[in-house]
Amino acid sequence: MKTYALVGTGYRGLWSYCEPLVRNYADVAHLVAVCDINGKRARLVGEYLKKEIPAYTDFDLMLREHHPDVVIVTTKDCFHERYICKALEAGCDVISEKPLTTDDVMCAHILETERRTGRKVTVTFNCRFMDFYVKIKEMLASGLVGDVLSVHYQWLLDTSHGADYFRRWHSIRSNSGSLLIHKSTHHFDLANWFLDDEPVKVNAFGTRRFYGHTREQRGERCLTCPYKDTCEFYFNIDTEDSGRLKMLYKDCEDEDGYIRDRCLFSDVIDIEDSVSLNVKYAKGTVMSYSLTAHSPYECMKIVFNGVKGRLECDNAFGVETIKFYDRDGQCIVIDRSHVRQRPGGHGGADPALRDRLFRGYTEDPLHQMADTRAGAMSIGIGIAANKSMKEDRAVYLSEFLGDFYPEMKERDHK
Ligand SMILES: NC(=O)c1ccc[n+]([C@@H]2O[C@H](COP(=O)([O-])OP(=O)(O)OC[C@H]3O[C@@H](n4cnc5c(N)ncnc54)[C@H](O)[C@@H]3O)[C@@H](O)[C@H]2O)c1
Repeated sequence: MKTYALVGTGYRGLWSYCEPLVRNYADVAHLVAVCDINGKRARLVGEYLKKEIPAYTDFDLMLREHHPDVVIVTTKDCFHERYICKALEAGCDVISEKPLTTDDVMCAHILETERRTGRKVTVTFNCRFMDFYVKIKEMLASGLVGDVLSVHYQWLLDTSHGADYFRRWHSIRSNSGSLLIHKSTHHFDLANWFLDDEPVKVNAFGTRRFYGHTREQRGERCLTCPYKDTCEFYFNIDTEDSGRLKMLYKDCEDEDGYIRDRCLFSDVIDIEDSVSLNVKYAKGTVMSYSLTAHSPYECMKIVFNGVKGRLECDNAFGVETIKFYDRDGQCIVIDRSHVRQRPGGHGGADPALRDRLFRGYTEDPLHQMADTRAGAMSIGIGIAANKSMKEDRAVYLSEFLGDFYPEMKERDHK
């Protein structure tokens, strides 16, 4: 029986880890304690699960009193590094939510600490367990497309999903590193995983012209907004998500002042809502990627132009389609409209990932379990993109990861 402690008892911490640990994995895992900077939210875990779970606001004290085998990190992104490193130093292994961290300095600290302590950090990229992406991975691995020469990759978030990032802590760069880190880490990890390759160099552009201070009719938060009857983005924190947001955030506001329904047009927002970038990979593939956080509809579209043909994949309007065009003019369409999403979070990906995390595994043929190198390569694209926009230049990932992976420097100019 392994013992686990969790830090960051927010939405992901409570419902994706604490609840399943207690309800589904009690035969192999024991959640010994939880911690959050917000004591009310930490205590809520035991109250909600109707179980005695010690709750802390002092992480070091929690580790000293419980000596867990594994620490699960589900705090706001910018604090992942602090807890990952403290846990490693205390002799624990770590399961960290994506993104590994939000900048190059904290990334280096994690990589150095993991190497020195000999403990292990697993980064949870649940997209690697979603059926659609598994199918794409299998098709590429089968050699159908041959060597991939270029990739066109678009990620569209609509004005419900996309907007929600701009209400929350994510919309402040110092918390999340921007959507290029917080959100795109999933997308970049998928690209790296699909291609079985590592990124070398990034050039990026970004703007914010939809959210943030783009209209005068705005308030501090939806709850008290004078425009709640007319704003198309009005969000009722008391009733949204069957009252879960009220319980988790509004009822705990008095402890930390965190407002979950902050105005989308606030001038504290400092991240981009549209980004466009190019990536060069080590094996020579070039990729164009864009993220739009204000699309009329949700969609991921990815195209692989290979030596043997072109693979086009998209999931617009919830219909998953894959088309392969070979060099003889044939088009094979794989219509996945009949494919039902599996139950559980993220189309069944969360339960599949949790089984691997908590029950262990002997084989991983598709390399779905990710380590710090994969975590660093995915945020590496985002970190390089942030530097590229700030410094108006193309950025090599070896500039900040090369000391850990010296082969990166050798392949820069190939
Ligand atoms: N893989 C996925 O699909 C997925 C989905 C959602 C969130 N996440 C990740 O999970 C993490 C949590 O996201 P969330 O949606 O639950 O956010 P959240 O805001 O609901 O929870 C974050 C929690 O961290 C706590 N916290 C903030 N600063 C802290 C500190 N210094 N020390 C201790 N606790 C602190 C907050 O009080 C809050 O309870 C993030 O890293 C996010 O990127 C991953």
